[in-house]
Amino acid sequence: MEFKPIEQVLDTKLEGKQVAIRGWVYRKRDQKEIIFLTLRDSSDLIQAIVKKDSKAWKGAEKITIESSCELEGTIREDKRAPTGFELQVTDLKIVGLAERFPIAKDLSEEFLLDVRHLSVRMQKLQQVWKIRSKVFTAFREFFLQKGYYETHAPFFTKTSESGLELFEVDYFGKKVRLAQTWQFYAEALLPALEKIFTIAPSFRAEKSKTSRHLMEFWHGEMEAAWMDLDGLAKVCEELISYICQKVAKDCAKELKLLGRDPKQFEKIKPPFPRVTYTEALRILEKDGMKVSWGKDLRTPEEKQLTTHYDKPVIVTHYPKEAMAFYKPSDPKDKKVALCLDVLVPGTGFELIGASVRDLDIEAMKKALKSKGEDPKDYEWYFDTRRYGAVPHAGFGMGMDRFVQWICGLESIKDAIPFPRTMERLTP
Ligand code: 4AD
Ligand code: MG
Repeated sequence: MEFKPIEQVLDTKLEGKQVAIRGWVYRKRDQKEIIFLTLRDSSDLIQAIVKKDSKAWKGAEKITIESSCELEGTIREDKRAPTGFELQVTDLKIVGLAERFPIAKDLSEEFLLDVRHLSVRMQKLQQVWKIRSKVFTAFREFFLQKGYYETHAPFFTKTSESGLELFEVDYFGKKVRLAQTWQFYAEALLPALEKIFTIAPSFRAEKSKTSRHLMEFWHGEMEAAWMDLDGLAKVCEELISYICQKVAKDCAKELKLLGRDPKQFEKIKPPFPRVTYTEALRILEKDGMKVSWGKDLRTPEEKQLTTHYDKPVIVTHYPKEAMAFYKPSDPKDKKVALCLDVLVPGTGFELIGASVRDLDIEAMKKALKSKGEDPKDYEWYFDTRRYGAVPHAGFGMGMDRFVQWICGLESIKDAIPFPRTMERLTP
């Protein structure tokens, strides 16, 4: 008999019909004359019952939680069952008998991370992985539909976003750094392709143990020739909206299992509210949070700011001094840079960092030196300005943060199957 995904056998049309399914034992409850098994596969779960007089009984007695198995039986609709149907088992074949599974209820977060190679199969995380897959797919779809090309950059580099911590690795006796961004190489590729994007890991040795920082995170980045700050803000809004619509539509079941309302994300459509950094400080001051001009917004301030909106908010024109070397001054007000961040509602954390790119080599050299970098390592990057420079702009979005937001996860560690944090390198 052909095996069907569990999702497909939860169907009134199959009432009384014989089906075959396979998967893992999620729950088991023994009674004298009957054994209840809940079987899980990647699509869904179903309650299965084995009666003492069936030839499946011996196997059902022996089978343990998380064992893999094949079941055959008849489908019955049963409103009391967890997914509305029940399989009355006639045949049971154990495929991989599991040892005593170390994960039971009420285990600490740290323990679950220690055994992440096993806890990845938990029902909650299973939903997150499905949504994560959709977020990545939708990101790609969005840019491909708009005529962007997908490109790739090296991970061993000498350039960096100054101000951020780097991982240094030994490269045949030379010190190199793991890439924090694809951006510099992207800028060099613009004269060839004009509109490009990537999804790749970025590495940051940030000594911050927060609920939104990973040492290795997945970075969705775009770069486009001829683009200005307004054009950039529009791409941010449209992209976020596109991904939200896709997830709301295609992952409604998964969102609901995580206690998230898909409707909340259907509403996320352009335009998003836009405020300048300076306006944001005024709003915060009215809320009783004084930030002196020039200081970066901290977590509580970002959180407070986003309470005024039910969509992601775009904060533009941050102080030039505090920004990476490639973010240019606004010609209308030299103190601020042509850049923006997108903050998500609720938690207020930064989802996207974006900017127009400076074309002024001397200004960039000065900014690099002030941050302790050697402009010599950036000579090739300056060449991109020397030979046919055009105005251009781009951004980076934290893919894991997107997943964290849309799934409503307390920690970013649950947005990626095998997180890398300061104290965690295994599994
Ligand atoms: O704001 P960031 O540092 O911008 C850049 O790296 C630019 N070069 C991107 C570009 O313009 N192409 O990082 C971009 C985004 C942040 O807004 C955040 O969502 C995410 O990357 N991010 C992290 N996510 C998880 N863990 C970390 N340690 C992160 N650091 C940044
Ligand atoms: Mg940033």
